[in-house]
Amino acid sequence: MAGENEELERIIHAATNKFNQYAASQTYFIPPQAHISIDIESNELAKVYIDVEHNGNQYHFRSVEEKDIDDVHTYLNSQPAVRAKYSNGQICSLEQTTSRIRTLAGRFENRNSPLYLYSGFIVTDAETDMFIGMASLGKGTEPGTTEMARLNRTECWNHSSNNTTAGVNTIGRKIYSGVGTIEACALVQYATRLKQDGYTVDGHSLQAIVSTARTDNEASWKSACKAGMALDTVEVVERHGTSLRYLLRKNI
Ligand SMILES: CC(C)(COP(=O)(O)OP(=O)(O)OC[C@H]1O[C@@H](n2cnc3c(N)ncnc32)[C@H](O)[C@@H]1OP(=O)(O)O)[C@@H](O)C(=O)NCCC(=O)NCCS
Repeated sequence: MAGENEELERIIHAATNKFNQYAASQTYFIPPQAHISIDIESNELAKVYIDVEHNGNQYHFRSVEEKDIDDVHTYLNSQPAVRAKYSNGQICSLEQTTSRIRTLAGRFENRNSPLYLYSGFIVTDAETDMFIGMASLGKGTEPGTTEMARLNRTECWNHSSNNTTAGVNTIGRKIYSGVGTIEACALVQYATRLKQDGYTVDGHSLQAIVSTARTDNEASWKSACKAGMALDTVEVVERHGTSLRYLLRKNI
């Protein structure tokens, strides 16, 4: 038992060093600037748009709607590769996707929702309108925190990573790189804007944006790190299964 604990401590120590070394190498990274527009229509339906340019590509985020259920299910939630290191690693049924999207869409529709505007965005290539993925905010485990999540179709994962098979990271002639990074940066800037505009998260003033990433999901924790999220702890988060995770936080 003592040996097992020592081994775990050694792994946690190595993972901590790895994160901190990467963070130190990123101090000169300038996050792309997100242009955020929050339009509240007279019936209180909010339409939120975020535009970001990065590495020569233009990305468009728009608030999730029920019409997005099929795309989210087809490209993301039904895909074992996309879900493998996300949450508990399981794919979702169409019913689960439908329920999740309805919940997220409702947070743009109902001003009385405790998570009004803390919700999800469909991310597309602004030039071609192609579906890329979904980036979202939700309630964090501590009061006054919002948790960030991102899921992208495999063709748009980082072109320099070696977790894809040849060719899948390109659609047409485009090569995608840094999508997870722009999503993390845009969500941090959007959360900051919500705080500035006085939108509370579950009745509390927003204090921090948080996220968790499996230590073996390098694209996830590195992209969060590039958006300024710092390492809090390394631990197993029971609701997400048995893998060690980085718990990341950026105070706002
Ligand atoms: C996690 C995810 C959002 C990251 O997006 P991405 O567009 O692939 O990541 P980025 O291009 O922004 O890469 C961020 C950094 O990670 C690095 N990286 C990417 N894939 C990597 C890999 N397999 N191994 C090591 N480093 C990797 C990139 O090189 C980049 O670092 P750099 O700027 O220092 O070169 C995306 O891969 C995804 O949707 N995965 C499936 C769902 C998931 O696991 N979500 C995580 C929970 S939030």
